[in-house]
Formats: sequence, structure tokens, C-alpha cells
Amino acid sequence: MIQFLVNNEMVQLTQFAPNLSILDWLRTNVGKVGSKEGCASGDCGACTVVIGDLIDGQWQYKSINACLMLVGNLHGKHLITVEALTTKANPSLEELHPVQRAMVECHGSQCGFCTPGFIMSLFALYMNYSSYPGKAAVIQALGGNLCRCTGYQPILAAAEKCFSYTAEFTQNISDKDHRFSQQVSALTLSLEKDLALNAIPAIEHGQQYFYLPQNLTQLCELKASHPEAKFVAGATDLSVEFSQHLAYSEQLISVRYCPELMQFTQDETGIHIGAALPYSEFVDSFCEVYPEAHELFERIGSLQIRNAGSLGGSIANASPIGDPAPLLIALDASIELQSISGSRVIPLAEFFVDYRITQLADDEVIVAIHVPQRLPNQQLSCHKISKRIEDDISAVCLVLSYQLTDQTMHQVKCAMGGMASTPALATNIAGALNGKTFSLENLQAAAQKMEEDFQPLSDVRATSAYRLQVSKNLFDRIWYQSASNMILSPSSVELNTTVPAIKTRINHASL
Ligand SMILES: Cc1cc2nc3c(=O)[nH]c(=O)nc-3n(C[C@H](O)[C@H](O)[C@H](O)COP(=O)(O)OP(=O)(O)OC[C@H]3O[C@@H](n4cnc5c(N)ncnc54)[C@H](O)[C@@H]3O)c2cc1C
Ligand code: FES
Ligand code: FES
Repeated sequence: MIQFLVNNEMVQLTQFAPNLSILDWLRTNVGKVGSKEGCASGDCGACTVVIGDLIDGQWQYKSINACLMLVGNLHGKHLITVEALTTKANPSLEELHPVQRAMVECHGSQCGFCTPGFIMSLFALYMNYSSYPGKAAVIQALGGNLCRCTGYQPILAAAEKCFSYTAEFTQNISDKDHRFSQQVSALTLSLEKDLALNAIPAIEHGQQYFYLPQNLTQLCELKASHPEAKFVAGATDLSVEFSQHLAYSEQLISVRYCPELMQFTQDETGIHIGAALPYSEFVDSFCEVYPEAHELFERIGSLQIRNAGSLGGSIANASPIGDPAPLLIALDASIELQSISGSRVIPLAEFFVDYRITQLADDEVIVAIHVPQRLPNQQLSCHKISKRIEDDISAVCLVLSYQLTDQTMHQVKCAMGGMASTPALATNIAGALNGKTFSLENLQAAAQKMEEDFQPLSDVRATSAYRLQVSKNLFDRIWYQSASNMILSPSSVELNTTVPAIKTRINHASL
């Protein structure tokens, strides 16, 4: 059985198909049709709902795509849909929730198909900030919502205006969640009792199962006895296989309820990120150590995707255009794999064998990603090339890491995505830079080794020639960005060169 709140009401489910998305459940089983289905692949945001999650004793509210997240992973959470925001049949303007009222007043809707999704993304923003957080935060919150007819200006205006109104509803939600926390604690206790009896919570539907192991031992035992079962974390990749390729899984094992996979820790050896932890729960802490990676993480999908997706899912999926892998490979990260036979740690660079083939054995799970401590004078430069800034997959991703001592580069690692069948190291480029002075000439000379490292494919995102050219150009960008950073920061080493007056997009969020 799983148990969760829907719009403040407790729901208990014992039977459903493991592949059932929240959106299908809401629209077909519950009759809540306010959340719309536009694309069923996480791209349009029409299905956006808000999930309340109890994290470290505090309820946190996040927007997610209901077409992707699976019902099984709602256990212990609070699902809030657009129906909850105003319950009256014919509400006056004042009786609407502040985000709805502001959308009406600012004319933020025309055909209305996208509107419930925008409302829910704005509602999550409203729940998370006590006052208008500024345009950059609004753009982040709405980056996963598409509107084809209204135009975004009125919606941006509504996002600002809603903070001038207060909502009774918000208080109600918090009160209910407080009571629900107590019920969740009771539930956890009863689950612990089940665990003592060696029972693993599961939802079944005929011969289909959705398992919710509560610790790593249970998870490994389950995988060993059900090798055909698939793991699921945020389902941002898996659900696309269901909805676009009809490749359903009869048995799913959720990795979201194992504390071992949901931790972020830092010690003298480096940073350790639980494989199932959603991006939005670790990126800020990670970027305290590696602020240069912030824009790359901010450009993974949309906020809805980052609120659900995990590093473990991205790495196991082994897409050649996944953005985290080039970053982690350049940072010399390793991954920890576990099965009932034991655990092993391997460098991430060696994990990818060929197109979507990895070293992961049938009975293994990715437990954590370990990133070594930042080296003294380590420089990091991250670049994602895609057709749009928000919510778009990379054509090319390049991450360069090196130590800079007396203007000489050491320990150079250059990792790229979109250039081969797997994310991979550019060993010839790194070799050409190691021990060399950090200069435009040396970077450009190293870039000429691109063809020795990669022979990229042409596909819908980019031609092979474009990928090669843009990758080489990125070495110019690395130089100009780094040079302008040094000039902007008086404490840094001044370079003996003249920097042309060009404007670089160093920090997307500040635009
Ligand atoms: C609209 C959209 C936009 C996207 N944009 C980007 C983007 O810009 N950049 C980018 O890099 N990615 C992007 N993605 C891809 C996706 O969001 C990421 O790859 C995400 O990190 C996957 O994590 P998940 O938790 O959702 O994985 P899931 O979908 O839950 O799982 C993916 C695969 O990994 C396996 N798995 C999951 N966890 C584990 C584990 N711990 N051990 C072993 N196997 C495991 C599952 O069985 C499955 O095969 C996008 C996806 C969508 C739908
Ligand atoms: S229906 Fe388009 S994102 Fe879910
Ligand atoms: S109002 Fe028509 S799609 Fe946004």
C-alpha cells in the first residue's frame, strides 16, 4: 500500500500499474482533468503539478511534470493539483488564489491550454518565496512551461503581481502538511515494523509490481531476485520510454526511498552525491565548491525536470548528450556500484563502454557519485551548446578542468558530450594543453586536435561539421571568458594581454 495526500485529502492505493503516471491517474482514475496533457514527454509543462515533500523535517514544494512522475513515487508526499487552488464554483477575483487572480488581471491567458501548468509553476514559486524573487527566479520557474498564444510578458507581470496578495490557502496547506507529517511518522513506524518482518512495501497489479525498498540491502536483494526489474528515480527518462516508445516495464524498483541513495555529504576526500537525489536538492551545495558548474546544471531541462531527475538516472541512461557526465568526468569523479555480492568504485570515465552500454551489471545499482576535493588553483570551464537556453538538450557539451600554476596548465582534463557514442575524454586535446602556458594561441592549437579525438555524427540536433567547428570555437570562448573574469576580478592574476571588447554570457541567470 502507498499513502499520500491529494489536495489535503489522504489517499491510500494498493493496486495500480507500475508505469502509471500521475497525470494518467489524475485524469482517468480520479476525474481531475485540470492538469493537461500536451506532449507527455516533459517538454510543454501543461501537466505541471506541485509536490510537497518532507525533507529534513521541513515541507518543501516543488513543481514537477505529472506526465513523467509515477504514482508509486508519491508515497509519503502531498500532491497539489490546480483544482485545489480555488474550490468555489464561481469565485470572485478576490476569492481566487493570488497567482490565478494576477494571471486574470495581467491577461496572462488566451486559449488557456497551458494556463493550469503556468499557474502551478507560479504557485510553487509563491509557496517558496515570501516576496517577489526577481525576474531571473521567475524565468527559472517558468522555463519548462510553453505558451503558444499569449506571449510571456503578461505572465511575467502576473508572476510579480501575485506576491502583492496573500493566500488563505497557503496557510491551510501548511497546517494540513503539519498534520500529515505526524501521520507520515506513524506510517514510517509501521513500515519499520514491516521491515523487521522482512516485508518490502510493494504495489501490485496482476503480475506487475512497483517495489519501494526502504534501504540498500533490501534494494540489492530485490534486484538479485528480480533481474528483469528496472530501477526508477525521477522517471524523467524512463517515462519517455513508456509514453513515446510504449516500452513498458512489468516490474519497477524505486530508488527514492533508500536513504543511502538520497544523501549529499562533503568531507576531506570530496563531495559525495546520492545517486537518487534530485538535482534541485544538491546543485546549490555542489556549486559552493564548483560555482562554474551552476549554469550547466541550471540548463538541464527545466525546473520541473531538475526537481525530479537524478545523477544516477542520467549516468545509468548513458546518453551521449547527457550534460552531467562531461562535468563529472572532467572532475575525475568515480561512481559507487553495489549488488548483493558487494560494492565497487570505478572512474566514471571508464563506466561508459559504447552507445548506451555501461559497465553496470544486471544486479547492480548506482549508489553514489564521488567527486574529489577541489585542487589548489583548479580552473573549470563548462559550455553547453543547444538551440535554446531553456529546456533543451545539448548538441555539444564541453568541460575543461586544469590546474593553473604560474600561468602553466597541469592535470588537464577535457570531457565532451555529443561528440561520440558516449560522453568521453578528449585525450589528444588534454595532451596538447598539459604543461603549456594558458594562452589563446595554445588553446587554439589544442582545439585543432579535435578530429583526432572525435568523429561526431550528424543528427537532428547538429551536423558533424557544426559539432567540430563549434567545439573548436569554444576554446576561444574559454580564453575570452577567463581573460574577462581576470580583468573583472581585481584580486586575480592579471594577464599580459589586450582583451578585445566582447560581451560574454558568463552568468545566464543574471541576464
Ligand atoms: C523534457 C526533458 C528535458 C531534459 N533535458 C535534459 C538536459 O538538458 N540535459 C540532460 O543531461 N538531461 C536532460 N534530460 C534527461 C533526464 O532528465 C536526465 O537524464 C535525468 O538525470 C534522469 O534522471 P531520472 O532520475 O529521472 O532517471 P530515471 O528516468 O528514473 O531513470 C533513467 C534510467 O536510469 C536507471 N536508473 C535510475 N536510477 C538508477 C540507479 N541509482 N542505479 C542504476 N540505474 C538507475 C533507470 O532504470 C532508467 O533506465 C531531459 C529529460 C526530459 C524529459
Ligand atoms: S504533458 Fe507536456 S510536460 Fe507533461
Ligand atoms: S494561452 Fe494558449 S497556449 Fe498559452
